[in-house]
Amino acid sequence: MRDLITLADLKPAEIDRVFSITEDLKSKFLKGLREPLLPGRVMAMLFEKQSLRTRVSFEAGMIHLGGSAMFLGDDVGFGRRESMADFGRVLSEFVDVIVVRAKQHETVVTLAEYCSCSVVNGLTDRAHPCQALADLYTIRELAGRLEGHTLAWIGDGNNVARSLALGCGKIGVRLVMATPEPYRFNDRFLALLRREVPNLDLEVTDDPIEAVQDAVAVYTDVWASMGQESEREARRRDFAKYQVNRSLMSHTQQGTIFLHCLPARRGEEVTDEVIDGPQSVVVQQAANRMHVQKGILAWLLAAQT
Ligand code: CP
Ligand code: NVA
Repeated sequence: MRDLITLADLKPAEIDRVFSITEDLKSKFLKGLREPLLPGRVMAMLFEKQSLRTRVSFEAGMIHLGGSAMFLGDDVGFGRRESMADFGRVLSEFVDVIVVRAKQHETVVTLAEYCSCSVVNGLTDRAHPCQALADLYTIRELAGRLEGHTLAWIGDGNNVARSLALGCGKIGVRLVMATPEPYRFNDRFLALLRREVPNLDLEVTDDPIEAVQDAVAVYTDVWASMGQESEREARRRDFAKYQVNRSLMSHTQQGTIFLHCLPARRGEEVTDEVIDGPQSVVVQQAANRMHVQKGILAWLLAAQT
C-alpha cells in the first residue's frame, strides 16, 4: 500500500511507470475508450480548500476507470468530530484510496499514518504533487522529452514550485527560479532537496529575463496562494517585476510554452495576452491533471490487487 504525499515518495522509474500508464490511458480515452481498470474500487475525497481541477479531474478519472468517487463534505466532520486516528482508521476500512486537500501539510501526513489504504495529497501549503506530475507530463508531451530541458519558474517559491523542484530533480530537468529573496525556498526545504534529489540542477535569480532565456517552459502561479489572502497587497508590491507578460515572453526561444496551474489572477502574475496567447498550453495542462491522476490511481491501486 503506497501513498503519494510528496514527490519524494516516488522513484524516477515509478514516475516513468505512471507516465506510461497515463500515455496509454490518454490515447485510449481520446479514441473514446474508457478502460475499466479499477472496477468496484472506491475513492474518498476530503477537501479543506476550494478546488475545481483537482476535485473534478480525480472524480471523473475514477469513474472512467470503472470505480466510484465520494466527495465527503462538512457532514463527516473531518478534523473536528473525532480524532484523526479514529477517522483515518475507520474511513480506510470503507475505501481504497483517499484524496485529501488540506490547509496544513501535517494533516495529510498524520491522516496517512493512520490509514490502511492509500492517501494522495491533493494540495497542501507545502506540496501539490499531482499538479507537478501533470505539468512534467505536459512538457514531455509537447517537447518530446524532459531530461536536459530547463523549466523557468517565475514567482513565489510555493507548494507548486516545491513539488516541481522534487519532480525536476527526479527526472533530470534543470530548474531556474526567478523569485524575490523572501519568497525563495527556505533552508529546511533546501536541505530536503539535497537529501531527496541531490542531482537537482537549481538556479535561483531575481532576474526573470535571465530565467526564461533557455527555458522549454515558463511557469507561474498566483502570488498569494489560498490561505495567504491577507498578504495579497504586500505580495502584489513584492512581485510587481515578476509578472509574466508579452515583454518577458519576448525573451523566450521559439517553441517555449507557458504553463500555469490555475486558477490565475489575470493582470497580476500573468497578463491576458500571455495566458490566452499562442505559447500558452494551460488548458491542455489542466486536462492532463485528469489523465495523469488516472495513471496515479491505476498505478497505486493495481499494485494492491
Ligand atoms: N490547479 C489546481 O489544483 O486547481 P484547483 O485548485 O481548482 O484544484
Ligand atoms: N499555489 C496555489 C495553487 C492552487 C492550485 C495555492 O496553493 O493556492
